[in-house]
Amino acid sequence: MKFFLDTASISEIREAAALGLLDGVTTNPSLVAKEKKDFRKLLVEICEVCDGPVSAEVVETTCDGMVREGRELAKIAENITVKVPLIKEGIKACKILRAEGTKVNVTLCFSPNQALIAAKAGATFISPFIGRLDDISTDGMQLIRDIRTIYDNYNFPTEILVASIRHPLHVVEAAKIGADVATMPFKVFDQMLAHPLTDSGLKKFLDDWKAQHGK
Ligand code: G3P
Repeated sequence: MKFFLDTASISEIREAAALGLLDGVTTNPSLVAKEKKDFRKLLVEICEVCDGPVSAEVVETTCDGMVREGRELAKIAENITVKVPLIKEGIKACKILRAEGTKVNVTLCFSPNQALIAAKAGATFISPFIGRLDDISTDGMQLIRDIRTIYDNYNFPTEILVASIRHPLHVVEAAKIGADVATMPFKVFDQMLAHPLTDSGLKKFLDDWKAQHGK
């Protein structure tokens, strides 16, 4: 499973990259707005830190507008993935950008049929938002199971990029299903590694060692 960070914060991206486990980054207009920086400069900075795919979302809503914006974004760095919303115009834009060799992440997916359509349009990644489905008392993880089955049935190469991850169990469940990518907030990335029994176990080992051997 690939680990992507769902953030536009350079400090968070640097910290995750330092661990050597960062496979990519996803941003969206809300995450970018939090950084209060020039979008293009921010993307350049992110792409300098992260070699893997960096999703940059368009804000146009027509196919022509998305394609125009996507082409500009794709010029920023080789690893830019253009993110388009899962609406009719976005699907049309996805086909065009993919035909030009640009990687495309189709975002705001909330149903298996939407995922099927994105795969048929040649999406590089599909982004199902599981946390937002959970928020409305719908099983977000069931969507991942359904998409995995559909993509496997037809050998679609589109990667399932699980988004709107809220806690470490979401990552475990997505990994058990065989999702290709989990994009997560920095907090979840940190939580995945931590375990109180690891900390208390290490403390005991070191205390016992010091008791026998001194400092
Ligand atoms: O990048 C999109 C997605 O991960 C957003 O998550 O927590 O705002 O639903 P959230």
